[in-house]
Amino acid sequence: MIDGFEQMWAALAPVGRSASSGGYFRQPFGSAERECHAWFLEQCAARGLRVEQDGNANTVGWWDGSDPSLPRVLTGSHLDSVLDGGAYDGPLGVVSAFAAIDLLRERCVVPSRTVGVAAFAEEEGSRFSIACLGSQLAAGALDPERARALTDRDGVRLEDAMLAAGLEPELGPSPLLRDVGCYLELHVEQGRDLVHREVPVGLASAIWPHGRYRFDFTGEANHAGATAMADRHDPMLTYAMTALAANKQARLLTDGGSDTGRATFGRIEVSPNATNAVPDRVTGWLDARCESDATLAQLVAAVEKQGQERATRDGTALTVTAESVAPAVHFDATLTARLAALGGGRPVIPTAAGHDAGVLATAGIPSAMLFVRNPTGVSHSPAEHAGIDDCLTGVEVLADALAELAR
Ligand code: GLV
Ligand code: MN
Ligand code: MN
Repeated sequence: MIDGFEQMWAALAPVGRSASSGGYFRQPFGSAERECHAWFLEQCAARGLRVEQDGNANTVGWWDGSDPSLPRVLTGSHLDSVLDGGAYDGPLGVVSAFAAIDLLRERCVVPSRTVGVAAFAEEEGSRFSIACLGSQLAAGALDPERARALTDRDGVRLEDAMLAAGLEPELGPSPLLRDVGCYLELHVEQGRDLVHREVPVGLASAIWPHGRYRFDFTGEANHAGATAMADRHDPMLTYAMTALAANKQARLLTDGGSDTGRATFGRIEVSPNATNAVPDRVTGWLDARCESDATLAQLVAAVEKQGQERATRDGTALTVTAESVAPAVHFDATLTARLAALGGGRPVIPTAAGHDAGVLATAGIPSAMLFVRNPTGVSHSPAEHAGIDDCLTGVEVLADALAELAR
């Protein structure tokens, strides 16, 4: 099993890797992500899995069970990355799924239920801004019309990007999910809970509600030298104060000593982006996450209020647009307890990271997640890591879980 896992890992390792940072750039429908996808198809072919793709660029390799009338078991994850992302977020779930199938076959397991390995498209929303785009479309959680209107940073429309990659877009609810009875996604942990508990693998209880909000700050472009400080309408100042406010508001949210809110401005665009000009526009994207839906709404409202107050002082304007908001997800308690019990009792922990499993759970498909320990807890960065022994334990736990679910 170790050889198979390591071979797959080694094949993916160079794809889309930046020579300078060591991070990954696997944006949807770009060459690196398509190379990962071609690798996925090869892995399916090598195992005799029947491949189906939907019009949302999601792909599943099916291992047919002995009783096609039974609901199917789906596993897998995604192959795209954030900009300059880590190696594990997404690919670990896909590689582990193939390795788990290999292990089950070595053990001569013949599933009654058909088992699928999924690669969902644009999970990170790194190109078209909406997280879990492929699974949301497949599950009917995102209006195809809205998806059709999405453009990337260069103004390329989603469907055009798909066509350019040789795909045939047909956005909307997907036949791939029709007969799926449950979904189990293995993922690198994005935190250090398992490190503190000193265990290699745990399960997810819930995903915090989270959202992405576009803050458009507008002002007046002018000369950086010739414009007196008192005469400026500088949206950069309004943005800067709003970013500080977001940090402060999230820090204020603590419960019993643990922080229960997160707020990040991780992306901005400035126009005209010139050293010697006061800008006329700054767009910043707020990623906000909280333990409850109500707190998330309060946090975003508080940040917007402070931004508006500062805009009044600066003589600028601010408009806020919610680009995607996901409610709290509580994974299927029965399924999770059943899987946690398999290993003699594994920890069940919450997460503030979003996943396709959350989308499927919200759409009514009983779903669960396995987390593999991440020694640093760092994720969405080249420093993301999981030790090989823990990864192999993850494969074994996933294989046991699939055997149980596909009986
Ligand atoms: C995806 O990984 C997210 O939580 O943004
Ligand atoms: Mn991610
Ligand atoms: Mn992920």
